[in-house]
Amino acid sequence: MIVLGLGLLCLLFGLHPSEAQFPRVCCTVEGILSKQCCPALGSDPANVCGSLSGRGSCSAVRVDTKPWGGPYRLRNVDDRERWPTKFFNRTCRCTGNFAGYDCGQCKFGWTGPNCDQRKAPVARKNIHSLTPEELQEFLDTLELAKNTIHPDYVIATQHWLGLLGPNGTDPQIASVSIYDFFVWQHYYSVRDTLLGPGRPFKAIDFSHKGPAFITWHRHHLLSFERELQRLTGNENFAIPYWNFATGQSECDVCTDSLLGGRNPDNPFLISNQSRFSRWGVVCNSLDDYNRLVTLCNGTSEGLIQRGMMERANKPLPTMSDVRSCLGIRDFDSPPYFTNSSFSFRNALEGYEKPDGQLDETVDNLHNLVHSLLNGTSSLAHSAANDPIFVVLHAFTDAIFNEWMKRFVPSNATFPDEMAPIGHNREYNMVPFFPPVTNEEVYVPSEQLGYSYAISLDGEPAVFVLGSTLGGIFIGLLVLLLIFVLYLRQRRNRGFEPLIKADFTNRKYTEEA
Ligand SMILES: *[C@@H]1O[C@H](CO)[C@@H](O)[C@H](O)[C@H]1NC(C)=O
Ligand SMILES: *[C@@H]1O[C@H](CO)[C@@H](O)[C@H](O)[C@H]1NC(C)=O
Ligand SMILES: *[C@@H]1O[C@H](CO)[C@@H](O)[C@H](O)[C@H]1NC(C)=O
Ligand SMILES: *[C@@H]1O[C@H](CO)[C@@H](O)[C@H](O)[C@H]1NC(C)=O
Ligand SMILES: *[C@@H]1O[C@H](CO)[C@@H](O)[C@H](O)[C@H]1NC(C)=O
Ligand SMILES: *[C@@H]1O[C@H](CO)[C@@H](O)[C@H](O)[C@H]1NC(C)=O
Ligand SMILES: *[C@@H]1O[C@H](CO)[C@@H](O)[C@H](O)[C@H]1NC(C)=O
Repeated sequence: MIVLGLGLLCLLFGLHPSEAQFPRVCCTVEGILSKQCCPALGSDPANVCGSLSGRGSCSAVRVDTKPWGGPYRLRNVDDRERWPTKFFNRTCRCTGNFAGYDCGQCKFGWTGPNCDQRKAPVARKNIHSLTPEELQEFLDTLELAKNTIHPDYVIATQHWLGLLGPNGTDPQIASVSIYDFFVWQHYYSVRDTLLGPGRPFKAIDFSHKGPAFITWHRHHLLSFERELQRLTGNENFAIPYWNFATGQSECDVCTDSLLGGRNPDNPFLISNQSRFSRWGVVCNSLDDYNRLVTLCNGTSEGLIQRGMMERANKPLPTMSDVRSCLGIRDFDSPPYFTNSSFSFRNALEGYEKPDGQLDETVDNLHNLVHSLLNGTSSLAHSAANDPIFVVLHAFTDAIFNEWMKRFVPSNATFPDEMAPIGHNREYNMVPFFPPVTNEEVYVPSEQLGYSYAISLDGEPAVFVLGSTLGGIFIGLLVLLLIFVLYLRQRRNRGFEPLIKADFTNRKYTEEA
């Protein structure tokens, strides 16, 4: 049965024998067997990782070696441990501000042919204050991303032991759209550990219930935003945010002119006046994947469901909730989990009261919004299918960014050990590739090339560009900021190398 399914998959996708959830180019049988993903940049095969132009070199992957805490106490049964070394243990390590799987891109926040110019931060705005043209561009870009096959990455449709297919000759991969790739990444980070048919281990989550909640979602949005910029050729494109802290019981982005109103014929579906009523969801059948010991293969599994579009039985969070959580000084607190108290992260994620007090029954801020949306958005593995995810998480990240501005935390405030698996500071976030650690995005957003047009202190941010004097003043401020960031970046270049990866060759249990 499964073999039949796989055969069908190969037929469906034209059996392109060279891919996984990694760059297309790295997923040949030889590539997967060698565990090396160091593609040549451009057409010269000798230019591995852009080495001929000094952009990078092929190096052993570094992984976090510190102990983890949390409920996942198993060892070597999940292929996301020591990410991504079960799949690739050598990747391009780029120098300076170069980045990408072949060092062909710039790090977030940099631009220019040599990646040595600071990119002026793109401004993420309130979705309600976009001009009609900006709104149209946002909606059209989402639609285009939903319908365009990802140019560089493909998804794995089987876990590690089955990755080369039953005969070890056919990489089990699929091409999906840019938007569905974004959905798949979120699913993959929250999926259960597969111990055997119908035996999932569920107490594992690489992107929620721990400090990486903040950094993971930040990187997820940021790489999606970059894909959208590449897709449209507009380097200044920014995703908007939805200020969900209205205290109201209706969803003010659930309208046909924004992310879809309610379908009068079925209150759980989106109105057919909205393009999103036709979007298919992927990665929704977690129980099936667990039963069949397989992964989401990106096929469409029905329509987006949304219970709350007009009235919920409880109001959304309020600005006073946002302000309370912004008052919590500690980024996180032991055990760095859902039962942490006085943890900014846990309050924002929504497992403790906004003021930091722990209350088992609480459902707040980010979590509350997901659960009130009651449908696709309230299931972690499929939430990203609903485009509300993008604007909801942009606002969550805006709150975090405001917290960073207030407390200017050093990277030591992010726990380096004993957080749940995936959540230590130097863990490579699953399943991003090439590897990127939590620490790397625990910096002010301007360093990563974006900012928020928002002030969470009181008055909403206004663009003072009306007056010439105001314009000049802002211009000078921006120049100063860029200069300061530039100096800091220069200082950070001399990072100490982390501890060398200590790799184990022990295989996974065969049943997994
Ligand atoms: C893809 O996954 C779906 C849902 O689990 C399953 O029904 C379908 O058979 C799979 N398709 C292929 C080609 O494997
Ligand atoms: C990487 O994987 C290859 C293939 O399994 C293995 O031969 C090699 O020893 C590994 N290298 C490191 C640094 O772990
Ligand atoms: C695997 O190998 C067997 C025997 O060589 C062959 O009959 C079968 O078609 C192969 N299956 C796939 C999926 O390539
Ligand atoms: C949209 O829905 C309305 C009523 O719900 C129905 O009358 C109309 O035919 C539908 N339009 C399309 C294009 O499906
Ligand atoms: C937090 O939850 C974990 C897992 O349920 C438990 O082992 C631990 O004792 C709890 N810690 C605190 C401080 O409540
Ligand atoms: C979610 O929808 C279900 C019906 O499918 C309903 O029973 C439940 O009360 C709703 N929950 C919330 C929080 O709106
Ligand atoms: C982050 O921590 C490392 C030590 O783990 C230190 O070397 C580095 O300078 C710190 N980076 C910043 C930006 O503070």
